[in-house]
Amino acid sequence: MPGVYQESVDRLAQSAKESQDLGLTSVILFGVPDEKDALGSSSWSKDGLVQRTLEAVAKEAPEILRVVDLCFCEYTDHGHCGVVTPEGEVDNDPTLDNLARQAVSLADAGAQVIAPSGMMDGMVGAIRDGLDDNGHSGVPILSYAVKYASAFYGPFRDVADSAPAFGDRRTYQMDPGNSIEALREAALDVAEGADMLMVKPAMPYLDILRMVKDASPVPVGAYQVSGEYAMLHAAARNGWLDLDRTIEESLLSIRRAGADFILTYAAREMARRLA
Ligand code: PBG
Ligand code: ZN
Repeated sequence: MPGVYQESVDRLAQSAKESQDLGLTSVILFGVPDEKDALGSSSWSKDGLVQRTLEAVAKEAPEILRVVDLCFCEYTDHGHCGVVTPEGEVDNDPTLDNLARQAVSLADAGAQVIAPSGMMDGMVGAIRDGLDDNGHSGVPILSYAVKYASAFYGPFRDVADSAPAFGDRRTYQMDPGNSIEALREAALDVAEGADMLMVKPAMPYLDILRMVKDASPVPVGAYQVSGEYAMLHAAARNGWLDLDRTIEESLLSIRRAGADFILTYAAREMARRLA
């Protein structure tokens, strides 16, 4: 994906510093470890990749808010977002225990916001309990509450090496044709203790974003995903679109639809221009 790389721990701490200097307020970390297993157990290891990165970022860029994506697809050898049964189905409830474990380990390592993206039922409540029981009642949860089973995640899965080895994510991510379920997912997550919600993808789901924002008692963000970013770059490379202007307009439309904050691969490009 143009301008998007896997980075080593030291390089990433450097780019967090650059982001901080550009005036960005936060960074979200995704771990892509070399070693994968069926459970994704390296995700809760004390000296895991993201755990070490959190330390390095806190040192290099102490002002930037450290958010972590919480999921298993980058850590499992099968590429699914949780524990898989012998029949090849994702097993919701055993995954909850592991999510809590991963969350506690990341909070121990200095994560300041936990952002679960796996769309397991009950994930927010399980993570909240895990954090509270382990001395992290002050660490908030940003839930990817409304996440559609989208083809726009393609470039991310390529970069993060997290495409499912079999099947797809349609049993846990949402049906793009369904809008009512978005409100149910959002309400459930708030009831379980989510401090912020996210809608994902952004541009093809601006109607959903507005609906969720109007109904939500907590801040709502939107994730402009890899495919949204990649298509703007691809069109610009072909000379078909003006990159700066289309990026700005796309972010403006997300904001207009109700996003209190935006997660985007264009954050640094945009910050540079605003500066
Ligand atoms: C992991 C996760 C994904 C994205 C963010 N967290 C991939 C997926 O659900 O397959 C996608 C991000 C993007 O496309 O930029 N669950
Ligand atoms: Zn996942």
